[in-house]
Amino acid sequence: MANAAMSDQLQGMTSVVTGAGRGIGRGIALVLASRGAAVSVSDIDASAAQELATEIEQSGGRAMAGQVDVTSQDSLNEWIQASIEELGKVDICVPNAGVIGAAGFTERKDYNSDDWRMTWDINVRGMINTADAVMPHMKERKFGKIVNIASHGGRAPRGVPDPGRGSVQMPYSVSKAAAIQWTHLLAIELGRYNINVNAVCPGRLWTPMWEAIALNHKALNPDVADLSAREIFDRNIRATMPLGRPQTPEDIGKAVAFLASEDASQITGQALNVNGGAIMN
Ligand SMILES: NC(=O)c1ccc[n+]([C@@H]2O[C@H](COP(=O)([O-])OP(=O)(O)OC[C@H]3O[C@@H](n4cnc5c(N)ncnc54)[C@H](O)[C@@H]3O)[C@@H](O)[C@H]2O)c1
Repeated sequence: MANAAMSDQLQGMTSVVTGAGRGIGRGIALVLASRGAAVSVSDIDASAAQELATEIEQSGGRAMAGQVDVTSQDSLNEWIQASIEELGKVDICVPNAGVIGAAGFTERKDYNSDDWRMTWDINVRGMINTADAVMPHMKERKFGKIVNIASHGGRAPRGVPDPGRGSVQMPYSVSKAAAIQWTHLLAIELGRYNINVNAVCPGRLWTPMWEAIALNHKALNPDVADLSAREIFDRNIRATMPLGRPQTPEDIGKAVAFLASEDASQITGQALNVNGGAIMN
């Protein structure tokens, strides 16, 4: 669990994280484990999830893995049930799995109806399906922490690098706005069960998701055709982030750990930007 400083902030708690095979989800799982939580990780990529669970166990943590497609309620229900059986309970649920949609296709200049469907099914329905799978258990126990991974792209259109390229970002940004509104509404519904529902809105991280965005940008914009995908990303960070540096999966994991901890017991219905100050609402 390199770089994830050990603490007992979440000692005795158990957690589930979707889309944990790589990127932000992986970082979240490693931080939760480093804070003492047992972690059930899932991904559509079964071997990536299994490798992460093995890594956590080898570092002294408690972990299990499942193969889950968040668009399938059945696969989520089975994994949550298996997690409850193996770990005894689920205290913390992190619906993290997400896709960038149209902007993930190098040559795509605009969205099409498949982009809308795919982005909606995974980013919005997948998040709702995950909560639906875990909610009966949390309601029964009158305890739970749901931390949705949204995006600052769901708050303001400033994530769009260039005027004229906005449409390629639309399915993603609209899905993340829906994720934030879902967080607010679910918090109202679940407060009486002592379940906190919050979101973290990451800014920009160098994961395969942002690499795809940069490659799309490079293919469509002659001004940056000579730059590498990473150079395009770095330029974007310098231009938009007061702190001048990208976020890391661990940064997002630390925010999730805080919102899942007792220190945040009075915080619900909030969406916390972890974005170097790029968007301030
Ligand atoms: N990278 C960023 O800059 C950034 C910024 C803001 C928000 N986010 C959000 O953070 C989350 C993670 O992003 P990331 O950058 O780590 O992306 P990523 O593409 O690196 O990883 C996403 C993970 O989700 C999994 N996944 C995809 N479809 C799935 C499905 N149907 N069922 C289960 N798992 C599935 C993938 O296999 C992968 O392991 C997403 O919700 C994303 O929208 C990312």
